[in-house]
Amino acid sequence: MANKGKVDALLGIVFGDEGKGKIVDWLAPRYDVVARFAGGPNAGHTIIFGGRKFVLRSIPSGVFDEGKLNVIGNGCVIAPDLFMAEARELEAAGYTLAERLVISRRAHLILPTHRVLDRAYEAAKGKDAVGTTGKGIGPAYSDKAARTGLRVGDIEEDFEAKYRQLKARHEQILADLGFTSYDIAQEEALWLEGVDYMRRFRLADTEAEVNRLLSEGKHVLAEGAQGSLLDIDHGTYPFVSSSSTTAGGVCTGLGVAPGKIDRVWGVFKAYSTRVGAGPFPVELFDATGDTLRDIGHEYGAVTGRNRRCGWLDLVALKYAIMVNGVTDLVMMKSDVLDTFPVIKVCTAYRKGDAVTSTLPYDLTGWEAVYEELPGWQTPTDGLRREEDFPKAFRNYIAYVERAVGVPISIVSVSPDRDATIVRRAAAAMANP
Ligand code: GDP
Ligand code: IMO
Ligand code: MG
Repeated sequence: MANKGKVDALLGIVFGDEGKGKIVDWLAPRYDVVARFAGGPNAGHTIIFGGRKFVLRSIPSGVFDEGKLNVIGNGCVIAPDLFMAEARELEAAGYTLAERLVISRRAHLILPTHRVLDRAYEAAKGKDAVGTTGKGIGPAYSDKAARTGLRVGDIEEDFEAKYRQLKARHEQILADLGFTSYDIAQEEALWLEGVDYMRRFRLADTEAEVNRLLSEGKHVLAEGAQGSLLDIDHGTYPFVSSSSTTAGGVCTGLGVAPGKIDRVWGVFKAYSTRVGAGPFPVELFDATGDTLRDIGHEYGAVTGRNRRCGWLDLVALKYAIMVNGVTDLVMMKSDVLDTFPVIKVCTAYRKGDAVTSTLPYDLTGWEAVYEELPGWQTPTDGLRREEDFPKAFRNYIAYVERAVGVPISIVSVSPDRDATIVRRAAAAMANP
């Protein structure tokens, strides 16, 4: 087995923004390839080290580890103008990408008119709007499913004509919707410059390339975006994103067989957040929710919106562990709970007389049922060894592990790369 290649998946398993970027960056030295398999610039993955901060959107979080190949897989959607801005920022910071970044020809393009459509559809939904990131994600994946989309491979030949055709189709839809007050002239010029910029990169059949690397015994880390409850199939539909963010998406979004997947890292926060609309049973509307937001700096990395906050939701966590086959949990941001005398954990949902501890079809109207645990009321962000964790903090970890039946292998206690603690139980991880 030692020489056999494998894919490990690292997934956000709740509503996104769990801290995936930080952990991918930290794990990257243990892998040969880091690959994004879903989503696009709706993602905002924050990485902090050496006093510097980066927020990645489409580019995998393995780019700070110089020796790694980074792949934008076929399951992704990519906006050339935003990709150009992101890549230029990294290059300006000294991270050259050309040799180390490869983009699947089968990934789909987000057009400027997809972003207008995103706004138009949201406006049409009115009070039922999803609260999207406005990056054109839904419309781009709609075109993919409708078999009308443009793919990265299309920029290699006769691109102008294909672009004009799809743009005209979008303009027609917008006219039919009566959504005419938009001007994309400036945006389009930058977008076309982005298309040209993308041609400098290696556009390839990454599916074959990843499989070849696996047959050579290489290890691939599949970097998830968004979270399991935002998955198009398994999330809180229709308040979801438009891609397969769960483990199955790794196979379709990279072209790897299920048998190649080994470890599934499930990243979650020690409490809950959600950005955008949709049911959220653990949401706190009181001062505690504000405190979690303030201490956790819970403002969106992409849109700057307030993230809705609440206590940890074990109902959602167990569901996500089930649909993803999570083998190892990664608990983030427990330091945000450092000052609370009592910490609550949602163990079930209640609606009228009905109580459930499994995720219902529709979360609307369900209220959280809590258990209370004592807080540790000690700063933990400076701790780097499990032995130094306060007893109540260890109890919290053990409580969650017992409740969900999966080990918490890594704990993160501050945004910095170094504040990542591998627990004894996961010592085997040092050699994945
Ligand atoms: P991602 O989308 O899953 O990569 O997560 P985001 O980057 O959107 O949001 C996570 C936020 O939490 C970022 O601002 C990180 O810098 C920060 N963060 C990550 N880990 C920790 C941690 O252990 N403690 C604290 N306090 N912040 C963290
Ligand atoms: P990362 O990878 C948190 C949410 C949006 C909205 C819904 C649909 O940083 O964890 P979309 O623009 O995808 O059509 O929006 O999904 N959303 C995210 N929330 N983190 C993300 O990504 C998200 N990407 C999309 O807020 O509710
Ligand atoms: Mg994010």
